[in-house]
Amino acid sequence: MSRAMLEADALVAGYEPGTPIVQGASLAIGAGEILAVLGPNGAGKSTFVKAIAGLVPLGAGRVVVGDVDVTAWPAHQRIEAGLAYVPQIENVFATLSVEDNLALATRGSRAARRAALERALGRFPDLGLARTREAGRLSGGQRQMLAIARALVVEPAVLLLDEPSAGLSPRVVGELFGQLRAIAAGGVGIVLVEQNVRAALALADRALVLVAGRNRLEGPAADVAADPLLAALYVGGVAA
Ligand SMILES: Nc1ncnc2c1ncn2[C@@H]1O[C@H](COP(=O)(O)OP(=O)(O)OP(=O)(O)O)[C@@H](O)[C@H]1O
Ligand SMILES: [Mg+2]
Repeated sequence: MSRAMLEADALVAGYEPGTPIVQGASLAIGAGEILAVLGPNGAGKSTFVKAIAGLVPLGAGRVVVGDVDVTAWPAHQRIEAGLAYVPQIENVFATLSVEDNLALATRGSRAARRAALERALGRFPDLGLARTREAGRLSGGQRQMLAIARALVVEPAVLLLDEPSAGLSPRVVGELFGQLRAIAAGGVGIVLVEQNVRAALALADRALVLVAGRNRLEGPAADVAADPLLAALYVGGVAA
C-alpha cells in the first residue's frame, strides 16, 4: 500500500460515556484502495465509520487524514480535510431535485460550483438523465448514486460508505460496485461497510471483519473470503 490516506488507530467510541461500542478498532487505507468493513449485525461497523467521520464522540484513538491529525476536529472540518461520509439512510434530500441535491454540496465561486455539479453528473450518466427529478422519486440504485455523487462533489481523498447496497437488486449492486471501482481507479480510497459480504469481498482489495467493536480478521479480500472464521462469524450462513 502507498502512504495511507486515512488511518484510524485504536478507536474507542460510543453514544454514551462509559459504554463504548467501538473498542479499539483500527483501519488504514491508501489511494485508490477499497477496504470492505464486514461483521455481524451490531458489531459496531456503522459506529466505527461515524467515529471516523467525527459524528460520534471518541473516547480514545487517533484519526489521521494524509499527514493531518484530525482527531480533535469536528465533522465539517474533516470533510474539508478530505473525508466524505455517506450514511446508510436519509443520505439525500427527498424533496429536492437531483441537481439541487448536488448544488447544495458544492463550494466556491459560481463557476466552480457549476463545474463541480457537471462533473458529478458526468460521472453517473443515469443521474444526468434524471437531473430535474425529485430525489425521492429515484430508484433505490439511483438514490445511492446520488448520495455518492454528493459526497464526491468536494473531491474527497477518502469515501466512507455505510451499506450502499442495502435493498438493491443484485443487478443494481453490480452497477453500483462497478461505479465504486471506477471511483477508486481515480485515486479515491473507499471504506465500504457492507452486509453483502460476497459482493463486497469480490470488489474490495482488502477486508476487515469487526466483532464486538474490535478487529477480528483482516487481510487481502481473497484471504478473508477463504478464511473459515468468516463463515463461522456469520451465524445462519449470511456470509456463505
Ligand atoms: N444512536 C445510537 N444510540 C445508542 N446506541 C446505538 C446507536 N446506534 C447504534 N447503537 C448501538 O451500537 C451497537 C452497534 O451498532 P452499529 O449500528 O454500529 O452496528 P453495525 O455493525 O453497523 O450493525 P448493522 O450490521 O446492523 O448495521 C448496537 O448495540 C446498537 O444498538
Ligand atoms: Mg450498520
